[in-house]
Amino acid sequence: MISQKSVKEILETAKIQDIVEEFVNLKRAGVNLKGCCPFHNEKTPSFVVSPAKNIFKCFGCGKGGSPVQFLMEHETLSFPEALRYLAKKYNIELEETETTQEHIEARQLQDSLYLVNQFALEFYQEQLFQTDIGKSVGLSYFKQRGFREETIKKFGLGFAPNTKDKLTSTAINKGYNIDLLRKLALTTKYDSDFFRNRVIFTIHNMTGKVIAFAGRILDKNAKGPKYINSPETEVYHKSKVLYGIYFAKQQIRKKDECILVEGYTDTISLHQAGIENVVASSGTSLTIGQINLIKRYTPNIKILYDGDAAGIKAALRGLDLVLEQDMNVKVVLLPDGEDPDSYLQKVGSTAFSEYIDKEAKDFILFKTNLLLEDAANDPIKKVKVTQEIINSIARIPDPLKRAVFIQKCSQLTEIEENVLVESVNKQVVLLVRKRREEYKREQRQKERTARQNNAQTNNSGNFPTNAPPPSADPSFPDAPPPEGGELPPEELGVQPNIAATGAEIQERDIIRILINLGHNIYDKEDNLSVAEYLLANIEDVLDDFENKEYEAIAKHYAEQLLQNHKPNLHYFLNHSNQSFSQIALDLSASPYEYSPNWEEMHKVLLQTQKMPELNFIKDSEDALLRFKLRKIEKMMATNLQKGKTAQDEGDFDKTMVHLKIQAKLKAMHSEISTQLGTVVLKYDK
Ligand code: UTP
Ligand code: MN
Repeated sequence: MISQKSVKEILETAKIQDIVEEFVNLKRAGVNLKGCCPFHNEKTPSFVVSPAKNIFKCFGCGKGGSPVQFLMEHETLSFPEALRYLAKKYNIELEETETTQEHIEARQLQDSLYLVNQFALEFYQEQLFQTDIGKSVGLSYFKQRGFREETIKKFGLGFAPNTKDKLTSTAINKGYNIDLLRKLALTTKYDSDFFRNRVIFTIHNMTGKVIAFAGRILDKNAKGPKYINSPETEVYHKSKVLYGIYFAKQQIRKKDECILVEGYTDTISLHQAGIENVVASSGTSLTIGQINLIKRYTPNIKILYDGDAAGIKAALRGLDLVLEQDMNVKVVLLPDGEDPDSYLQKVGSTAFSEYIDKEAKDFILFKTNLLLEDAANDPIKKVKVTQEIINSIARIPDPLKRAVFIQKCSQLTEIEENVLVESVNKQVVLLVRKRREEYKREQRQKERTARQNNAQTNNSGNFPTNAPPPSADPSFPDAPPPEGGELPPEELGVQPNIAATGAEIQERDIIRILINLGHNIYDKEDNLSVAEYLLANIEDVLDDFENKEYEAIAKHYAEQLLQNHKPNLHYFLNHSNQSFSQIALDLSASPYEYSPNWEEMHKVLLQTQKMPELNFIKDSEDALLRFKLRKIEKMMATNLQKGKTAQDEGDFDKTMVHLKIQAKLKAMHSEISTQLGTVVLKYDK
């Protein structure tokens, strides 16, 4: 960890204009500097740098802050990473207060691995540009593929000669350690070069460090795979790397979209043509780690598929993972036989851009169409297809987005919307249950590991050496952001009913849950449904609803249960009683109110809770508590009135009785409030 002294020195030295100028064209404007904001797209500059205050501020998008904040935001660095960047820039010696020897050694090892990789990159480039064979074989190959020299240099393309160990021996002559070369798999265990007689593609990490290479075969008839890639090493974790991300990240943010292609050459070609928000998955399906890299810059992803991709359906299945991460996914199918590189070379960049804009289809609709085409007139196949689509939609965390897709898919499949809603909801519940269980399992695992570590500490009395290094000052988080896939406990909470107001809010809540979720199982062991649980708990006040229409529904539901019938949303929507079906419609799908400004509310809501209908157990428990609370309040008001009257009449005994009742009601009220926790404060405005 960086010492406080160094932190202070860096913060005092860093000049905002020095830092910003590296990335933005600035012009004088009085005492300030002005430029086009790098965080959003604009043509007239509203991005201001104030040297006097040592801050930047954009009056367009509102971003602003110190030099460190600029770097953290613009380069997606952590706080310590930004500090290191600045220390290097201003030649400030960093005082690191690393506690363990291992920690220091680990960092030193990493640094030397990067250095060796950098050496290798320079070696491959030298072979490409300065040797006869490199020029005649490698360079001419790249040029024939249409890559310009500046592109070749920018992307670190190179050439590995067909010799046993030219790279290895050159490295050793220059004093590089053979163990490091082996660790990076640049050198095999037989001390020969890993890449031979191939053109080289350099793989960079997010911050531009060289972490791996790929080599493409040149001779079509030669044996061996077309590409070979560095294996996993200490600095190369394939599942967390996207090819081209270092060169693409700024444009991804600016365009608020990431284009994903499969190949190295596709990425380079598109960049060269000015389409710079492109990265490649390198021929594999996307991992969570890769999705999270993209998500740091944009939630929008456009995937380009080769026209003849045989496995396109399998590839589509893999995309559910992306949906789950709350990304907006579009797909583009290129014309038959083309990949992005070849098609771009064929039609030029303008036509190419037009094509991918025009042909981009929303993933779910694309998948629906594709699968339906396949199912044609086969009803059994169609059922299967529908299920697959339902599974995809259910993975979208945002209920509003789900609703939109359900509507569109209902049109495409000609299946009634509410049938789809119900199936999706069921699937959503299953998914949440699965995730909840996974979450619990992970927690248990963590606890177990923690206990084991504790036990070891206690036994030896020493600091546990196998534990992660002690974390730095918590205000300077060094740790990477958590990976996706975990469902934090707060997501299992309740959903505010922001739309309803007035005295009926709690009754409405109960009815909403009854209609939408009543048939779900509340308690597996007792085979108790949500409806049975709710109705049993409000039995004594069934005649006491303020809204008589809601009361009618509750009573009707209770009667149906007595006859062993379990009504659901569908039942109420199609009920001959107009009031029933209208209420069911109003309360269906989601507690959100779809009003013209739903987007606004949506933003607010997302900050609090997601997936309300998934949490029907907690949802119904809380609704019930709120319902009870409301009833108690009503009783308190009536009781108080009676007490006052008794007092006015001079009836002391009667007054005392009412006071006692009041105290009891108050105690009940506060108990329920406690159970509801902050929920009452938050939602019962
Ligand atoms: P492609 O076979 O589509 O190659 O593989 P390409 O990128 O279009 O390359 P060119 O245009 O023929 O030169 C797509 C990606 O799959 C990975 C590579 O990342 C490649 O860019 N791949 C492919 C491998 O890793 N190994 C292979 O043997 C083949
Ligand atoms: Mn290609």
